[in-house]
Amino acid sequence: MRPAALALGLGLSTALAAQPALSAELSIALGSIGQDVAEMRQQLSKFTEETGHTVNIVEMPASSTDQFGQYRLWLAAQNADIDVYRTDVIWAPQLAANLVDLTEAMADRVGEHLPSVIQSQTVDGKLVAFPMYTDAPALYYRTDLLEKYGKAVPQTWEELQATAQEIQDAERKAGNSQMNGFVFQGAPYEGLTCDGLEWVASHGGGTIVDENGEITINNEKAAAALDQAKGWVGTIAPAGVLSYKEEEARGVWQTGNAVFMRNWPYAYPLGNGEDSAVKGKFDVAPLPAGADGGQSAACLGGWNLAVSQFSENQDAAIELVKFLSSEQSQKERALMTARLPTIASLYDDPEIAKAQPIVAEWDTVIETAIPRPSAATKGQYNEVSKEFWTTVNETLSGRGTAADNLDQLEKRLRRLKRSGW
Ligand code: GLC
Repeated sequence: MRPAALALGLGLSTALAAQPALSAELSIALGSIGQDVAEMRQQLSKFTEETGHTVNIVEMPASSTDQFGQYRLWLAAQNADIDVYRTDVIWAPQLAANLVDLTEAMADRVGEHLPSVIQSQTVDGKLVAFPMYTDAPALYYRTDLLEKYGKAVPQTWEELQATAQEIQDAERKAGNSQMNGFVFQGAPYEGLTCDGLEWVASHGGGTIVDENGEITINNEKAAAALDQAKGWVGTIAPAGVLSYKEEEARGVWQTGNAVFMRNWPYAYPLGNGEDSAVKGKFDVAPLPAGADGGQSAACLGGWNLAVSQFSENQDAAIELVKFLSSEQSQKERALMTARLPTIASLYDDPEIAKAQPIVAEWDTVIETAIPRPSAATKGQYNEVSKEFWTTVNETLSGRGTAADNLDQLEKRLRRLKRSGW
């Protein structure tokens, strides 16, 4: 008898009893913005150490819209290769049917997280995903340039426009030909729904569709907001902004070629990275308000973790969701990539406040951030959003006036609504 077989023969029952649960090989699908994948890799190696389960990362495109399309196809095809999906906060109603109900598994964890986030992931009583981080945008501004030109941080979009134009013109005149006033997300995809919603809501023009499912977008304030944004394209923003998503905007900003940028907190630590031209030269503020008593409006974003109904390793997949949503993982994530926690106490954590001041400063922005109408339009949200971002992109491109385009948008949304939401 060979020694291994001998050992096995002698101690089989004791050996089995002492074994932890069998290790599984899992796959997690996530989009790759900024440092998301690198950070995930680090966290997963700890998970493997703790549990013995290994996890493959299935890297998806950066765009939320592209990810959604792919996930919907995979779930429709009952794909068993992906166990855990990182899901956007807006997807819960549309993917609910093919995701595992986490209510029981997370019963002792649910109370730790922001109730609004839990609510956004609960569809007809089913908890379809569990929070990884929440998200709300910032106005990034160059402290050195505002100081050089004696300008204050803009409180309204009008002020932003004037300051951006003045600094852009002066810098270009001084030989800095690449300088832009403002970069944001103008490409036709979910990110433009966020930017557009912020412009509209900050002018008091509502949220496209209200909480009761009523279509509200066709109004004068919304039209004024979009007209104003159209005026930025080719003046303070490069014409190319019409194809910018988060990472393209960050690229321009981080090479030092923009006075202002609208982006999510992930750009904060990257902007302060060793290879960044704006390291130590910028700060963040809430987005500007619209005209005539408008308010600053931040679109509520965020990402969650969902277990596929077609996963053959659901218990291990749930362990992974618990691990990645835990206080420890959220804290590490806030420290490393400034991803905003969904556990309230972490906003008071001195280590986080020191390493990534934006996190501590962003608690009130998160509290007042505006959800997209995903709960109100249920299974139709992506179609509604697509109609909106298309309308905004066309308006920014100069194809039709804001008022006419919003009129058309209302008609298309009415048609969608008739087929039920
Ligand atoms: C961010 C947000 C997400 C949003 C996306 C749009 O990733 O967290 O909710 O849908 O940006 O590009």
